[in-house]
Amino acid sequence: MKLSVIGVGYLGAVHAATMASVGHDVVAVDSDEGRVAALASGTAPFVEPGFDGLLRQTLDSGRLHFTADYRDVAEAGLHFIAVGTPQRPDSHAADLTHVYAAVGSLLPHIRPGAVVAGKSTVPVGTASDLEGRVVRAGGVLAWNPEFLREGFAVRDTLKPDRIVYGLSADAGRAGVALARLDECYAPMLSSCPRLIMDFATAELIKVAANAFLATKISFINAVSQVCDAAGADVTLLAEAIGLDERIGRRFLRAGVGFGGGCLPKDIRAFRDRAADLGVGEALDFLADVDAVNDSQRTRAVRTVRDLLGGLAGRRIAVLGAAFKPDSDDVRTSPGLLIAAELEAGGASVAVTDPAAGPALEAHGGHAGEFVAGVQDAVVGADAVLLATEWEEYRRLDPAQLAGLVRRRVVFDGRNALDPARWKAAGWTYRGVGRR
Ligand code: UDX
Repeated sequence: MKLSVIGVGYLGAVHAATMASVGHDVVAVDSDEGRVAALASGTAPFVEPGFDGLLRQTLDSGRLHFTADYRDVAEAGLHFIAVGTPQRPDSHAADLTHVYAAVGSLLPHIRPGAVVAGKSTVPVGTASDLEGRVVRAGGVLAWNPEFLREGFAVRDTLKPDRIVYGLSADAGRAGVALARLDECYAPMLSSCPRLIMDFATAELIKVAANAFLATKISFINAVSQVCDAAGADVTLLAEAIGLDERIGRRFLRAGVGFGGGCLPKDIRAFRDRAADLGVGEALDFLADVDAVNDSQRTRAVRTVRDLLGGLAGRRIAVLGAAFKPDSDDVRTSPGLLIAAELEAGGASVAVTDPAAGPALEAHGGHAGEFVAGVQDAVVGADAVLLATEWEEYRRLDPAQLAGLVRRRVVFDGRNALDPARWKAAGWTYRGVGRR
C-alpha cells in the first residue's frame, strides 16, 4: 500500500519506518528540512531503542522516503497526520497550529478518495471540525489515535495493545476509511483488538488514557507523602495494592513525578476542553493530579536542602535529564525542573544523562551545567540526586562514588537504588516515601 506520514517527530518517524517494515511504500513529510535530510541519510534525530536499525533497513529496502515537498505524497491512498500538539504558551489548551497547517498543506495534493487519518492527540471535536475540509478536497477523514510510549515506540507500533478507528457519521465515508485502515494494519490486526467508533470517542480515548495514567502516578505519589509522614514504605505498599488485579502493579512507581511531551500537557488540554464543553468541574481533580506532580519535585528539593542544611553554595549532581530512561526527550524533564529549583535556592548543579546531551545542547538555556559522565558530575558534590532511572544508574557502585563526592548524601528520586547497599557504603540515603 502507498502511505504518507505527515510529521516526523517521535511518533511520525517511528510510524513511517514501522509501516515500511511491514511492506508498505511510505513517504514521510516534514517542513523541517534538516530533520528530513538527517532521516533520509539514515540518522535518527532522537534516541529510541530499535529505531536506528529499522530506519536503515527500511531506507535500504527502498520502501521509505523522506521529503519536505508535499507534492511527493500525491500517489498515497492513506495519509497519517502525526504532527505535535504541544501546550499553548498562553493557556492550558493544546496548540493545533501544526495539525491545521499539516492538513492545509496536504489537502491540495491528495487524490480523490484518499483517506486522511489523524494520529495526533487533539481536543475532542477537532476531527468533526476538519472533516468538511477533507471532504471538500475529495478525501475521507478518520481518527486513529496512537498510544506508543517513548522508549518502546517501535515495539508498541509493531505490537499495539489495541487499534482504534474513529470513523465518519457518513456510512459511505466510514466504509472507505475502514477498508483502507484495515489494509494498512493487516499485519497487526491478527494479534490485537480493533475498536471502531465515532470521531469524538476516538479523540477522547487518548486523553482519557493519559489522564488515567497520570492520575495513577499522582495517586501513588500522594500516598508516598503520607508514607513519609507515617514512617511507612510506599514501594511495599504499591506492590501489595498492585497485586489486586483491579488495581494492577504498573504505573505505581512513586518518584519525582511524570514528565515528557504527553502526560503533563494532555491532562491540561483535557481539562481545558472539558471546560469549553461546560463540564470543566468533572475534571477538576486533574488540577490536583498536576499539583501533586509539581509537589514531588519541590519535595525532593526540600529534602536535599534539609539534608545539607541549606542549598546556597552547595554542589549537587543531578543524574538524569531525559524524562524517562531509554529516551533523550527532555520535554518537561523532572531532572531539569529540579535542577532549576536547586539553582534558584543557590546551589550549583551538574546535570548528566547517558543520552540527552545533544538534545540539551539543541534545547539551550536549561538549568544546571551539563557534564558528560556520572564520575565528573559527582566530583566534589554535596549531594547526588537520581532523577531518571537509567539502568546504568541503578548499577552504580556507591563505594566507588563515595571516594569522589564531598558528602555522601543521595536522594533517590525514582526509588531505583538499593538503600542497604548505599547505606553500607556510608551514604545517607533518602528515597520517595521509603523508610
Ligand atoms: C505516555 C503514554 O504512556 C503513552 O501511551 C502515550 O501514547 C504517550 O504518553 P510516554 O510519555 O512515552 O507515554 O511515557 P510514560 O511511560 O507514560 O511515562 C510518563 C512519565 O511518567 C515518565 O516521566 C515516567 O518516569 C513517569 N512514571 C511512569 C512515573 O513517575 N511512575 C510510574 O509508575 C510510571
